[in-house]
Amino acid sequence: MKFFLDTAHVPHIREAAALGLLDGVTTNPSLLSKEDGDPRDVVREITKICDGPISAEVVSLDAEGMVREGVEWSKIASNIIVKIPMSPEGLKAIRLLADQNIPSNCTLVFAPIQALMAAKAGAAMVSPFVGRLDDIFQGSGMEVIEQICQIFSNYEITTEVLVASVRNAAHVADAARIGADIVTVPWGVLQALTQHHLTDVGIERFLADWEKIKDR
Ligand code: E4P
Repeated sequence: MKFFLDTAHVPHIREAAALGLLDGVTTNPSLLSKEDGDPRDVVREITKICDGPISAEVVSLDAEGMVREGVEWSKIASNIIVKIPMSPEGLKAIRLLADQNIPSNCTLVFAPIQALMAAKAGAAMVSPFVGRLDDIFQGSGMEVIEQICQIFSNYEITTEVLVASVRNAAHVADAARIGADIVTVPWGVLQALTQHHLTDVGIERFLADWEKIKDR
C-alpha cells in the first residue's frame, strides 16, 4: 500500500520524505487555505519535494471550467494529478482530461457506485472519504472501501483506490487489510503509525537494564 500525505504544509512533506514514507501528496482547497502564499506556488514546491503523484483540486463546477483548470494544474509539473469532484460534470471532465493523457483523482466519493462511475470515465484514482462517512455512521467508511475494492477486483479495474479523510491508525490498518492501493494520511496520523505504548515501555526497560551492566 502506498502512503500519501494529506497536507499542503511543506515542512511536514519534507519530514515525511526524509522518513522514506512519502509516495505522494494530496492537497485540496481547504488544506491550501491554511498555508501562506499563492496556492500554485505551494503546489509547485510540493512537486519538487516528492516525485510521486501530487493531487491538486479544481473548483469549477462545469466540465469546461474543470478541464481548463486541470490543464493549468498539469502544466506545473508532470506528477500533478488533477482532483475532480464526483458529479456528472466531473465525469465529463475526467474523460476529457484522460483523452489528453492528464490523469485525474475523483474526489468526494462516498458510495461504491460513484467509484465505479469515476473508473469507467477514466479516473486514475478514486478517493472515498472514510472519516466523513464514519462521522455519520461509525464503521460505514471502511465498508465502502471494501465494496469498492471488491467491485474493482470483479472487473479487473486498474483505477487505484485512494483511502481519504483518514482519522486514525485503525483506518490505515483496515485499508491495508482490505487491500486498498493508497492511503492518504494527515501529519498527526502519520506520526501515530509508529507509536505503541509497549514500544515506549520496552525501550525504557532496555535502557534501564543497559545502565546496570554498561560499566562492567
Ligand atoms: C484528500 O484527498 C481529501 O481531500 C482529504 O482526505 C479530506 O479529509 P477531511 O475529511 O479530513 O477534510
